[in-house]
Order: sequence, then C-alpha cells, then structure tokens
Amino acid sequence: MQIRFADRLLDGDFALVLPASGTEADSVRKFGGDLGDALSRQRFDGEAGSTAEHFANGRRVVVVGVGKEGTTGDGPEKLGGNAVARLLTSGEKSAVIDLSDAGYDADAAAKIALGVVLRSWRYDRYRTKLKDKQKPTLDEVTIVGGGEGAEQRYRERWEPVAEGVSLTRELVTEPANIIYPESFVERVRASLDGTGVEVDVLDRAAMEKLGMGALLGVAQGSIREARLLILKWNGGGEGQPTAFVGKGVTFDTGGISIKPAAGMEAMKWDMGGAGAVAGALKALALRKAKANVVGICGLVENMPGGNAQRPGDVVTTMSGQTVEVINTDAEGRLVLGDAVTYVQRNFKPGTIIDLATLTGAILISLGHEWAGLFSNSEELAGQVTKAGEHSGDKVWRMPLGEPFDRLIDSPIADMKNVGPREGGSITAAQFIQRFVENGVKWAHIDMAGKAWSDKASATYDKGATGFGVRLLDQYVEDQLEG
Ligand code: BES
Ligand code: MN
Ligand code: ZN
Repeated sequence: MQIRFADRLLDGDFALVLPASGTEADSVRKFGGDLGDALSRQRFDGEAGSTAEHFANGRRVVVVGVGKEGTTGDGPEKLGGNAVARLLTSGEKSAVIDLSDAGYDADAAAKIALGVVLRSWRYDRYRTKLKDKQKPTLDEVTIVGGGEGAEQRYRERWEPVAEGVSLTRELVTEPANIIYPESFVERVRASLDGTGVEVDVLDRAAMEKLGMGALLGVAQGSIREARLLILKWNGGGEGQPTAFVGKGVTFDTGGISIKPAAGMEAMKWDMGGAGAVAGALKALALRKAKANVVGICGLVENMPGGNAQRPGDVVTTMSGQTVEVINTDAEGRLVLGDAVTYVQRNFKPGTIIDLATLTGAILISLGHEWAGLFSNSEELAGQVTKAGEHSGDKVWRMPLGEPFDRLIDSPIADMKNVGPREGGSITAAQFIQRFVENGVKWAHIDMAGKAWSDKASATYDKGATGFGVRLLDQYVEDQLEG
C-alpha cells in the first residue's frame, strides 16, 4: 500500500473518504445536501466503525463513523483501518481520506496512515486461484489536510511499526512446513538486513555446550533442529539492555502427550511470542529507537517421535535446576526457562519481558480481549499495562505467589512442568519465574488468546494479528527513550 500526504484535494480518479465525528445528529447534518440525505436514508449516525456509501458525479464517497471521541486515542487508526476494510477489494485503486477541518492533529493523521497499512495487510502467497473480484484493488491512499508534520511523523514513528507488525504476521501466518527453527532464523535475518540489528544464532551443539537441556529436550522429537536467535539493537549508547524473550514453538503437536486432531493446525502459530520479538526489534531499528534491547527467540518444533522426550523424563536446565517433564505438551515454559537463563548470563538485563502463547487456560480467564500479564514488579506491571492501553495490545494483570509456586514442586526433581488444571496460566508463569535471577524485573505475557483472530477488526483481517509488536514498541518509547 502506497501512502501519500497532501495539503489539499486535487482532481483525480479516487474514492473519497470522509470521517463523521461528533454527535449522531451533527455527524450527518454537517454534510447536508444529497450526501446528508443519503446518509440519513442508510440510518448512518456516525457511530464508531460504521460506514455508509454514496455515489455522486461519478465518485464513490465513503463516510466512516468515528464516534464522539474518534479524533483521539485509537480513533484515528480505526478510521484508517475501517476505510480500507470497506475499499480494499471494492474495485477502487486509489482513495483520499479528507481530513480538512475534521479536527485531526498531525500525530492523529499519521495514525490514520498506520491504520490503513495495518488493515490492508494480507498474505496471498499460496492462494493461486483467487478470482479477480477477490483480489485487492486499492493500492494507494492519500491523506489530505493532516497538517504540518503529519507525513514526517508517519514515516519516522509509525511506518516502522507497521513494518514490524507485517514481519510478525508473516512469520505467524506461514505454515510449519515452511517456518521451522532454521527457516525462521533465515526469514528474520533477511528481513532485518540493513536495519542495524545484530543477529546471532546458536545451533544445537552450541546449546548443548551451555547445558540447555530443557529447550533441547522439547526439540529432540523433531528432525528440525532447535535454534536460539539473538537480536541486538544498540540505539541507546552504554548501559544494561532490556530483554524481550519469545516462545518460538514453530509447531506444537504436544509431543508424546499429543494433542487431539481437531484444531491442531492452529499450533503453527505457537511461535507468536518469538514472532512479536522479531517484529518489535525490526520496528525499533527502523525508527532508530534510543534504547538498548536484546531479543531472544527460543525456536523448537514439538513433535512425537522415536527420540522424543517422555512423560517422567528429568531434564537439567542451563540454570542447573532440574525439571520432571510430566506433560510434554507444557513445552513453552521449558523453552522459556532456558532462554531466560541464557539472556541473564550473557546480557545482564535489568528487565525481562517474555511473550508466549503459553496456555489454553488464559483463554478461559481472559477470552480474546486481553493477554495475561504476570510480573514480579509493581512498577513494571504498571508500565506494561500502560503501554498496552496506549498501543491497543491490552494486557490484564494476573496474580503470582508462593501457594501457586508450591504446586510445581516435584518428588524427583527441583520442579515439574505442570501443576493442577486450576490456575494453569499462573503455575505456568510460576515455572518461568523460577528462572528469573535476584534483582531482575520480569514480566510475562501469556498471549495464547491474542496471536490469531477468527474475526477481523479495524486493524487486522482474520488471521495473524501481530500482537505484541506495538506493546513492546510503546513500552520502549515510554520507559527507555529520552
Ligand atoms: N501452545 C499451547 C497453548 C495454547 C493453547 C496456545 C491454545 C494457543 C491456543 C501450550 O504449549 C500448551 O499446550 N499448553 C497446555 C499446558 C497443559 C499441558 C498444562 C494447555 O494449555 O493445555
Ligand atoms: Mn503445548
Ligand atoms: Zn505450545
């Protein structure tokens, strides 16, 4: 999608998009004439997310409702996204969003462009027989009247974020025969080429040397070798980095504790946490964030097989702690435990935020609205919550504590990898916390309900959402820059 900015409306062949804000009555009345009549007859009232269409003098006019407060908050990106949802396959090639006198400041205008790009993302690589009518036609959107600085704001602040989200969505969408640990690394490496992100990779032999027995235990049932991907962005001069750690299970069959067949294809996106970390690093580098960040992606495929680990196996982690593997389907925490140890030993981060599609139980708690947030620090929990509200990647804090921690004690090892069914997301978080060293602030985000959506929204179509990129990006801006 091409994005342009212009000062005033010129003639041409385009669909015209007009925002309708304010109260029900004045959002319609202000248009007057034929357009006002057409809107009334469609019972259009300016409600956020509603749209109406009118044709006049050979031009399609799309009016998009933004509600009363639609010029602030997430109103602008929703305006851009809803306009695109309406026009993407409409036959129109070009659209103009006219903001003249509509009350949007430069940042809001830039956010409209972000919404446009986010909502227009699709992945048609494997759809070789799309009919012309199903193919996107819209390839250029011009934002008119966004004011001084809107374009610069978009290019510097939001276009990088859109690029990061796109990378994440691509990784999440690709099936597991295409994206597995090695190819994940190569796809990310190619995408980050020239951005200034430093890329390091550990293969199985390197991880064996380091004693990462939990991560490697998960991987051993698969012919796809594990990888640890390390992404470094040093935009902040000297100083301890902040670490982002992502669960990258490129496919989760459950292993020997195999999952039921129905719906198992969803487990191609069990690398959504790692995908978000890669996308966030791309966004930060493209916008030259003044921060030091290290991203770690723990990449494995969880398969049953002759060499797969068994329930009851005891593995030794890089931290030296031992784990009794009760259920091979609770694999994400095994991967994250070693990844968290690795990043602490090698980078001494003051803060770690991990993201993982970790438990089905978080869907029972929070549905698809919020990701679960767990933290050992009030301060960090507050900061991540705020970044969630600000970015739209919402998180809801869940409890941790000693009584939950006791539930993962094992009679044969230092801990077991599952607790009882009740509080399943919390015991999973407790497990990861056992790998967090003294003095390190840590937040864990269980995003099992957020990586993929069966419903379209204003900023994504059905499928990969790109959840986590904007959350991390916003956290960095709020807490680490300036
Ligand atoms: N990747 C799954 C969690 C998941 C479930 C993500 C549904 C997205 C949608 C994870 O590895 C898993 O299998 N967790 C188990 C843990 C259980 C065995 C303790 C679960 O949630 O059932
Ligand atoms: Mn699993
Ligand atoms: Zn999993």
